[in-house]
This record gives sequence, structure tokens and C-alpha cells, in this order.
Amino acid sequence: MAKVTIDGIMVEVPDGSTILQAARKIGGEVVPPTMCYHSKLKTSGGYCRTCIVKVTKGSEKDPRPMPKPVASCRTTVMDGMEVQNITSPDLLEARAGVVEFLLLNHPLDCPVCDQAGECDLQNLAYENGKAATRYEFPRREFEKIDIGDKVQLHMTRCILCYRCVKTADQLTDGRVHGVINRGDVAEISTYIENAIDNDFSGNVIDVCPVGALTDKTFRFKSRVWYTKPVDAHRNCDKCCGRVRLWYKGEEVLRVTTRRDEYGEPQDTPEGKPGWICNTCRFDKKNASDWVIEGPAKIERSSVISANHYESLKALKADIDRQRKSLPHGTKVTAGSGALDPNNQ
Ligand code: SF4
Ligand code: SF4
Ligand code: FES
Repeated sequence: MAKVTIDGIMVEVPDGSTILQAARKIGGEVVPPTMCYHSKLKTSGGYCRTCIVKVTKGSEKDPRPMPKPVASCRTTVMDGMEVQNITSPDLLEARAGVVEFLLLNHPLDCPVCDQAGECDLQNLAYENGKAATRYEFPRREFEKIDIGDKVQLHMTRCILCYRCVKTADQLTDGRVHGVINRGDVAEISTYIENAIDNDFSGNVIDVCPVGALTDKTFRFKSRVWYTKPVDAHRNCDKCCGRVRLWYKGEEVLRVTTRRDEYGEPQDTPEGKPGWICNTCRFDKKNASDWVIEGPAKIERSSVISANHYESLKALKADIDRQRKSLPHGTKVTAGSGALDPNNQ
């Protein structure tokens, strides 16, 4: 075990842990933001530099500080290490620089972007960025590309975090997309226009931290803050079947993984990652397909959290009541206005 101190808080973690894992063990504000690291994806991290921290003491044996900020998702802790994140003004200034770079080519598109309201980049820019940009040159732009009948790629918004590439690589058999070219002409592309149509390909939508990969069955049907997330499950022979349904009124507009406070799929009770298959995600949009568990708890900072839907205990009772009173197989919806935003 190694003892590491982050922003004055000491924590003990197994040898070989990263600074980020140690910070997540502490939790709260000392946890650096991450745009490319994803704990359920092997070899993720190391691309975006948003998770940088300042190491003021290397270890008990070698107390010299590290000369430059380091990526906490890729730096292993040493016993006696001391780290600064939010307590270092220099580090926060450096992170603001990283955010400025991430936004160099990013469009000022939030008002019309499907990801707005649950976008990691939007949150990052709000919490760590600056109000103005110094960039004066034309931003790079791309045409929208269909990568399969369910997933839309809008490369203009991509920050090249590689999460979708690793998701496709590690969850599906026969990845057909990746990053081509280098530098400011690098882009996500499918292999000779092949479509992504694997059983688990929809998960690239959930891992994308921005609005570059979006769900075609949900795009522009609603702003996310008008929808109500509800946890549900079904018996599925392909995946864990544990999902989050996003209602608007009586309609299930989309189905996603149950994401935790870091935007990663919550593990199943058996400890397996909660990825979901395309059947659950795209083909099961009736409430009757699901066993409703109740309103979802959104832990991430998001405008969705402002809706206080957790108080909607009536929702579950309403669906259970309908389910009991109707003949078997009848479509069940979260009716009687329980999900109507005006009723909150
Ligand atoms: S991806 Fe995020 S930051 Fe970029 S336009 Fe969409 S909501 Fe805004
Ligand atoms: S499309 Fe999304 S997930 Fe893929 S590299 Fe770009 S930002 Fe990352
Ligand atoms: S999250 Fe560590 S470099 Fe991107």
C-alpha cells in the first residue's frame, strides 16, 4: 500500500494505483476532471491533459518535486507522495490553458448541440475555462457522417479523446473505425465507409464526452433537461439489461447505460461493467419492455440534477399500478402526468 496526500488529504491506496484513482478514493472537489480517461476502458487516458496535477513531493525516499504538471490518470503514486490540484493556483492556470487548447477548434454550438446539458466539455469550460478566446484563425469544420443507421458523427465537435475507438476495440468484434491522419487534420473515420453495426456499438455514444457521437433515434427530440431519467432493467441474453430510460411525458425518448458521477457505466451487482447492447438501447422503447425501478439519481454536475425528479416517487407507483391493473402484454407508460415537468 502507498500513502499519498492530495490537497492536504491523506489516503492509502494499493501500490500501482494512479494519482487519479487515489483522488477518486477521496472523492469530491479534489478529483481532477477527465476527458479521455475511462475506468472501464483499458489503456484509456493520456490524450487530453485535463487531469494534470502538481506533484510537490515525489515520494518518501525521493522527496524532489516533479518539474512539470503530470497527467494524474497516467502517473503512478509512490509512498509519501504529495500532490496539489485545487490548492495550486499555478496548476489551475495550467488547466485553464489545456481547456483553451481543447476549445481552439471547437464550435460555439452549445445552444444547438444535442449534448448540451450533459456535456463534459461544457462543464469543463464552465468550471476551468476562460470567458474569452485568444484564437483568431478559422476553426476546422467537417461534414456530418453517418456511421451506421443509429449513430451520427459530427467530427467538428470531437476532441480526439479516443474513448470511442477503445470502446469499439474492446467491446465489439471487428472494429471498423479509428483515428486517421495526424495533427490538426486528425479525425475519427470508419474503415472504407464501413458502418458500425456491432451489438455493443451504441456504447460509443455514451463514452463520447462531447456531442460528436450522438444517438440518431434521440437527436433533437428534446433538450435533455426536459427529460426524466428512470432506472429500469429487463432480462437480456446479450447484456446486463440494466439501463436508464429517459422519459418525456409518457414517451421513452432514449435508453442509455446508467452512468455514475464520472460518466462511466455503473457496475452490475456482480461487479461487471454495465455496458448495454444495441437491442436494449435502440429497440426497447416501451415502458412495458422494462421493470421500472424508480427515478434515477444523477450524481454528475448537470442541469438535469436541477430538476429534483428524485422526489417523483409517484412515478414508480404509477407505473406499478398500471402494470397490475392492465391485461398482460398491454403497453404501460408513465402516464397520469407523473413525469410532466409542470408537476414538479
Ligand atoms: S459538444 Fe459540448 S461544448 Fe461542444 S457544442 Fe456540444 S454542448 Fe457545447
Ligand atoms: S468522437 Fe467522441 S469519443 Fe470519439 S474521439 Fe471524438 S470526442 Fe472522443
Ligand atoms: S484524463 Fe488524463 S490525460 Fe485525459
